[in-house]
Amino acid sequence: MKIVFTKTELEAAMAPWRAAGESIAFVPTMGNLHAGHLHLVDTAKIKARRVVVSIFVNPTQFGPSEDLAAYPRTPEQDIERLRAQQADLLYLPDVADVYPDDGQPTTVVEVPGLSERLCGAFRPGHFRGVATVVCKLLNRVRPDLALFGEKDFQQLTLIRKMVRDLDMAVTIVGVPTVREPSGLAMSSRNTYLSPEQKERAALIFRTLNQAAEAVRAGERDYSRIEQEASAALEAGGFSVDYVSIRRQQDLAVPSAEDNALVILAAAHLGKARLIDNVLISLN
Ligand code: PAJ
Repeated sequence: MKIVFTKTELEAAMAPWRAAGESIAFVPTMGNLHAGHLHLVDTAKIKARRVVVSIFVNPTQFGPSEDLAAYPRTPEQDIERLRAQQADLLYLPDVADVYPDDGQPTTVVEVPGLSERLCGAFRPGHFRGVATVVCKLLNRVRPDLALFGEKDFQQLTLIRKMVRDLDMAVTIVGVPTVREPSGLAMSSRNTYLSPEQKERAALIFRTLNQAAEAVRAGERDYSRIEQEASAALEAGGFSVDYVSIRRQQDLAVPSAEDNALVILAAAHLGKARLIDNVLISLN
């Protein structure tokens, strides 16, 4: 696996693949790689000849009071894991490579509607940062396909919309969430949890599954289901940002005809803000 640090090195490393017409898959990450990330790399390897991974802790998607400084950075371990996974190329830029006009405002990508809902309401500016950096990374790597986890369902939905709206020539592939045996969705932010909190955190997935089962069984009072799920999480020691049943396509509030649904939650436990979701397909 080759490692490059700048846009110019990235271009040079990929030139022979482009010239040979080899298919390229891209997995953008913020590092501290776990089995969820590695599953994206595995899926990428099945779908394309070459796999490019990026690790970049993107400052513009963190709010002023969020965990940018504390975000776990484990480059050596990440490199080892990617080598074992047989990724072809790792792009490991610094902030100056990605945002060279230091301190100057840059052009941003705004995905209206989607970026204000759910997590967007609690993390102002977060999705602008995500859309902008993913757009820049896609323009640099120019892959045939890019893979994103369903764990960050709002992010995946937002990126699909950005790619459609801006006519970007890339196929976005969503990959199912990888979980701990307890059901807890794997996340770099799980490192903020004590072993006891980690056990407790599995309550999110259990609660979402129960709520999803109620919808599948025919319960249609979504706000009651949301309130009950939220109360169960609060009783389990979480501070809940939201539990919400939405339509998969655009995360709008569902109408009676919608049958591709998703229940999403965001909740704080100790120092960690955890998110998860469960898909619900009716009939
Ligand atoms: P990061 O949180 O590092 O996640 C990188 C990718 O891994 C995302 O597509 C995310 O959805 C996926 N992922 C994380 N945990 C997963 C799990 N348990 N199962 C399956 N996939 C999982 O998401 C980001 O970084 C950033 O916002 C980024 C897109 C890189 C832009 O900065």
